[in-house]
Amino acid sequence: MRIQVITLFPEEFRRMVDFGVIGRALRDGRVRLETLNPRDFATDRHRTVDDRPYGGGPGMVMAVEPLRSAIRAARDSSVVRQPRVGLLTPQGRRFDQANARDCAKRGELILVCGRYEGVDERLIAREIDEEWSIGDYVLSGGELAAAVVVDSVARLVPGVLGDADSAAQDSFSEGLLDCPHYTRPENVEGDGVPGVLLSGDHEAIRLWRRKQALGRTWQRRPDLLQGRELNEQDRRLLEE
Ligand code: ADE
Repeated sequence: MRIQVITLFPEEFRRMVDFGVIGRALRDGRVRLETLNPRDFATDRHRTVDDRPYGGGPGMVMAVEPLRSAIRAARDSSVVRQPRVGLLTPQGRRFDQANARDCAKRGELILVCGRYEGVDERLIAREIDEEWSIGDYVLSGGELAAAVVVDSVARLVPGVLGDADSAAQDSFSEGLLDCPHYTRPENVEGDGVPGVLLSGDHEAIRLWRRKQALGRTWQRRPDLLQGRELNEQDRRLLEE
């Protein structure tokens, strides 16, 4: 997987993702992370990367020229014919696990981190395929959001996670929240472990976990169950 990130803060960006399982994937080459700085594409003496908004008002807008050149350089260096270019912005559609899966399948991804008040709308129309938000709050720039995207995509690349931390068992891998987890000791300040997990009965454990996942999703995120047909077994587990 190759991910190119266009950011005014390349070193800071790399540090945000270069640890743990993703750091290992970067080191062993399963995921290639490259950064391009629009400042390196600015042609004026001051290497300007922002400009005043038409119509006035506070704040600046990312200058068109250096950002466009950076995006085109990223596209041109791509080995796939049409690499997906995503802009991180609070105006975008919510980035979800299905998006992460889709990005991981494509093998190449270009992420553009907005700064200041945003990016010129014509540049978005011409150069950006997807506008993604990671939630309904405003960050100071797209870098933290792009780091979230990099992490969620990279961990789906084959071989990045070992069997022990397989992505198949993640929350959302089946559109449900994850079940609760327990480890030693068996007693934490008087709180025990649900008996079924100590029973050794694998089928009973599987059903208990499924029921927990369904129940949690129903309680905490009913939106995830909307429009979804539950199978007979799931319906029974929810009703029990
Ligand atoms: N840039 C600023 N805020 C953001 C958000 N919530 N998601 C994606 N990009 C952003």
